Amino acid sequence: MSEFEIGTQAKRRCDLLGTGPFSEVEGQLTRRFLTPSHARALDQLAVWMAEAGMSVRRDAAANQIGRYEAATPEAPALLIGSHIDSVRNGGRYDGPLGILLGIDLVEALHRAGRRLPFAVEVVAFGDEEGSRFAASMSCSRAVAGTLDPAAVLDLRDADGVTLAEAFTAFGLDPARITDAARLPSEVIGFLEAHIEQGPVLEAEGLALGIVTAIAAQKRLMVRITGIAGHAGTTPMTLRKDPGPAAAECMLALERICQAGTDNLVGTVGRMTALPGAFNVIPGAVEFSMDIRAENSATRDAAVEAVTAEIHAIAARRGLAASVTLMQALSESPCDPGLTTLLEAAVGDLGLPARRLPSGAGHDAMVMADLCPTAMLFIRCEGGISHNPAESVTEADCALAVRAMLGFVDKLADQFSRQTSLSSRSERDSAERRDPGATRAAPGSRSAPSGRPG
Ligand code: GLV
Ligand code: MN
Ligand code: MN
Repeated sequence: MSEFEIGTQAKRRCDLLGTGPFSEVEGQLTRRFLTPSHARALDQLAVWMAEAGMSVRRDAAANQIGRYEAATPEAPALLIGSHIDSVRNGGRYDGPLGILLGIDLVEALHRAGRRLPFAVEVVAFGDEEGSRFAASMSCSRAVAGTLDPAAVLDLRDADGVTLAEAFTAFGLDPARITDAARLPSEVIGFLEAHIEQGPVLEAEGLALGIVTAIAAQKRLMVRITGIAGHAGTTPMTLRKDPGPAAAECMLALERICQAGTDNLVGTVGRMTALPGAFNVIPGAVEFSMDIRAENSATRDAAVEAVTAEIHAIAARRGLAASVTLMQALSESPCDPGLTTLLEAAVGDLGLPARRLPSGAGHDAMVMADLCPTAMLFIRCEGGISHNPAESVTEADCALAVRAMLGFVDKLADQFSRQTSLSSRSERDSAERRDPGATRAAPGSRSAPSGRPG
C-alpha cells in the first residue's frame, strides 16, 4: 500500500474535490445538491471508501454511506460524517473535511487490521447548506426519520426545478426518500468533525475544540410588493417602490439583532428585485432572512419583532408584505457522555480540551433526533468560512484524526463493558425465570445495547 499520512490525506482530498469536475463552476467551488458535480464527488468518495475497506451504498435520500464492519456481523454502527455540498463559491473544507477525516480514520483501522465492537459508517450527507433549494439538511433529516417530504419535495431551485424532479434526474425515486430513515437500535452515535468557521480556536492558539451545542436557526422569505413602473417618468413622491422598503427592513433586522442577547444574529443573504432592470421600478423585492440564537426562545422573539417591523414599514409606504417561514431548527446540545469521551481523547494528545458552542448549523443538530451526537472543531485560518479563502493545516487535520481514533477506542471500551453487563443481566434474569436454561445454551449472545450511556 502507498504511503498513508492520516489527516494529510484527508486535506489533500478536500483540495482535489474543490476543483474541476467536482464543481459546477469553473475556477471556484460550487457543488449544490443533486447536481452532476455532486454525483461526481460521490463517485470519487466511493473509490476512497472502498480503498479504506468499506462497503459502499447510496441511500434513498442521496446520502452515500461507507460501512466498515464490526468484529461481529450486524452490530450497530457509529456514524461519522458531514456534508458534501457547498455554498456558492465556497471553501473546500466546510463539510468534506468531516467525511474525509472519517475515511482516514477507517483506513487507519483497516491498515492495522482492527475491528471494533461496533461498525463504523462514514456518511456523506447531500444538502446541509440548502444552497440549491430553500431547505437545508433534508438528507440528514431523512436519516434521522424527521423529514416531512411534503414540506420539501415541491421546493423549486432558481431554474424552477423542483426537489422531486432533481431527485428523479439523480436516478432516485422522490417517493422513497423516507426509506433512508435509520432505526435508533442500528446507530450508537454520530460524530461530526468540522472546521470551526469562526476565529476562537486560532485566537487561543488551539488546534481542536469540542462543541457543546449548535445554535437554533430559522430561515424566512420576505416579499414586499409595490407597483412596477417607469424609472424615468414616475416622480419620487408617486411611486410604490418596494426597494427602499426592503432596505429599511434590513436595517430593522440589523438593529434588532445588535440589541439582542444569546448570540442573536440575523443575515439577509439573498435579495432579488423583480423584474430586475436598470430602468424599471421593481414591482416586488424578495429577500431571505436567516436568524439564529443560542436558544429558540430568543430566536423566535427576534423573528416576531422583525416580522412586525416589516409589516409596519410596508404599511407606512402603502405596500404589501408577506413573511414565509421556510425552515426552523431548534438548538441542539451535544450528548454529554460522548462529549466527555471526545474531550478525554483530545486531552490524551496533550491538548487543552476547549469547549465552545457552534453558531453554524451542522448535520449533527438533526442527527440528535436519532442518536447521541458529538462534534469536533478544527481551527481554520482567520476563522474564515463560506469563502474560497477557507484554510486548514495538515498538522491540525492529523491531530483531528488522532483525537477521533482515541474517541472510538474509548467508545469501544464503554460499549464492550455495557454489552457484557447487559448480557450478564439478561443471563441472570433468564436464570431466574428458568434455572438451568442459560447453561444449556453455551455461546448464546444477547443483542448489544443500541446506545452508549
Ligand atoms: C451552514 O453552514 C449553516 O450554518 O447554515
Ligand atoms: Mn456551510
Ligand atoms: Mn458545514
